[in-house]
Amino acid sequence: MKILVLNGPNLNLLGIREPGIYGNNSYSDLCALIREKAARLGVEVCLYQSNHEGDLVDRIQQALGQEDAIVINPAAYTHTSIAILDALKAVGLPAAEVHISDVTRREPFRQISYAGMACEAHYIGLGFEGYLKALEYLAGKYGA
Ligand code: DQA
Repeated sequence: MKILVLNGPNLNLLGIREPGIYGNNSYSDLCALIREKAARLGVEVCLYQSNHEGDLVDRIQQALGQEDAIVINPAAYTHTSIAILDALKAVGLPAAEVHISDVTRREPFRQISYAGMACEAHYIGLGFEGYLKALEYLAGKYGA
């Protein structure tokens, strides 16, 4: 099984950006944790981060025929991007939404998740652990 793990804007600055909200660990620390978990689950992962909405849409489209499932933290595009929602719906792959922080307890503008509408599982406010739980869920449900 192949899982695409997508991260949106500013998540490349994990460890630097607002550590009180997102913690002290870096994006490469996150990637290492994800790779370790994937190896234990016996799944392949492709990690992709972009600060650009269209790049994320392109990568979701490329997943068609290439990956079996998607873990996505669209970051700020969560709350604005119908294009990312449409791309997830278009490819129709099982998807899980992750947010490091608990967006349900933050500003009103973070209360809508467009991408989340195309996701069957949601891991919100669990820090990096949310990505690992999302992998476990998808591997458990769709893995060989
Ligand atoms: C985030 C929450 C978003 O509201 C924010 O714009 C982010 C990160 C999270 O992981 O908690 O960039 O998706």
